[in-house]
Amino acid sequence: MSKEITPAEFDYNVFNTIGKDWMLISASANGKTNAMTASWGGMGVMWGKNVAYIVIRPQRYTKEFIDASDELTISVFGEEKRKAMTYMGTVSGRDEDKIAKAGFAVFEADGQKFFGDAKITMFCRKLYAQEMQENCFIDKSCDEKWYADKDYHTMYIVEIQKILVND
Ligand SMILES: Cc1cc2nc3c(=O)[nH]c(=O)nc-3n(C[C@H](O)[C@H](O)[C@H](O)COP(=O)(O)O)c2cc1C
Repeated sequence: MSKEITPAEFDYNVFNTIGKDWMLISASANGKTNAMTASWGGMGVMWGKNVAYIVIRPQRYTKEFIDASDELTISVFGEEKRKAMTYMGTVSGRDEDKIAKAGFAVFEADGQKFFGDAKITMFCRKLYAQEMQENCFIDKSCDEKWYADKDYHTMYIVEIQKILVND
């Protein structure tokens, strides 16, 4: 049974939620939806709003949907979806209908698709997007380690508009 909570009631550890459980980032455009797994990002407060930030490499098909839409969802699942999450993070939606194949229960609210079996669903609205730049790295080892192909992430800061949790 899902219920809405406020950001103040969100008492999950973000390091575990993002880094260990992982997020499924989904966006819809032109009647289609795509989603991918992400384990880098954060949550906090910016411009007086409750926000999340996510980072997406240029080659991700999901990026095309994020760029074409004002909104996106961030979903977190339990251990039972680990295999599906690994699949969503290794295969591209350019090649397969991932959402159907992974067996997620897809619902729609306010024009946004979301996944009924998620432990946490955050409905978000884009506020800011910026591609990371080589000359901005203060610790150059991060650049060397993660961007050998110069495929810098775009960082999106999104306002968390609604949070649903499944008990
Ligand atoms: C655990 C895990 C975490 C990932 N985190 C990110 C991430 O934060 N940003 C990113 O751009 N790609 C990340 N990926 C890679 C994408 O999920 C992967 O390339 C996916 O196949 C892209 O699908 P798409 O082309 O349908 O968008 C991650 C993959 C896994 C397995």
